[in-house]
Amino acid sequence: MLPFGLPLTAEGLLQLPATKTISRRLSDMRGYYADAEAYAARLAAEDSLIYTFWETEYTGDTRGLSFGITEIVPGTVGREFHMTKGHFHASDGDEIYLTLKGRGKLLLQTRQGEARTYDMTPGGICYIPTGWGHRTVNVGAEPFIFVSIWPPHIVHDYESVQKYGFPQLMLQGDSGPVEAPNPRYQAG
Ligand code: F6R
Ligand code: ZN
Repeated sequence: MLPFGLPLTAEGLLQLPATKTISRRLSDMRGYYADAEAYAARLAAEDSLIYTFWETEYTGDTRGLSFGITEIVPGTVGREFHMTKGHFHASDGDEIYLTLKGRGKLLLQTRQGEARTYDMTPGGICYIPTGWGHRTVNVGAEPFIFVSIWPPHIVHDYESVQKYGFPQLMLQGDSGPVEAPNPRYQAG
């Protein structure tokens, strides 16, 4: 890895070098949204883009850092805001999220069922300790964009989130986002 420095662009963004680009469309999110009917209806109309992340995976042999940028498109499936799949880090490894643009929420959970939610607004950071599964949600009307930084060689565990989700759902209320319990959730 060589050193680099990046300025914020005029739009307040960073253009990180990326080794991998992953886009998740509605069809990649089957089973993730609480309202299965709304999901099916939207998918029948269009397989829309939900989020993209650009990753630079550290491949050196010292204690480097991996990093990336995630952009979540605004919108809802039923009343549930667009979100990432979410995962646990299967091996030890904490993570930092730094918000660049938009308005988001960070949902956290432990395997024992403890849940926390944090606001993500431009310039703010969130610290995610090992053991806390994490998902981000776009609760605004604009794209929600943040940087993530994590130690390399982490195994990302998507399986338990895929099965049971998070304890909390982030829904569109009459005057903004509201949190509701997830009826499908089980600790595990
Ligand atoms: C890496 C990390 C983020 C996410 C990205 C996409 O450990 O937490 O870079 O990978 O925001 O979300 P997922 O991976 O849940 O699809
Ligand atoms: Zn992570």
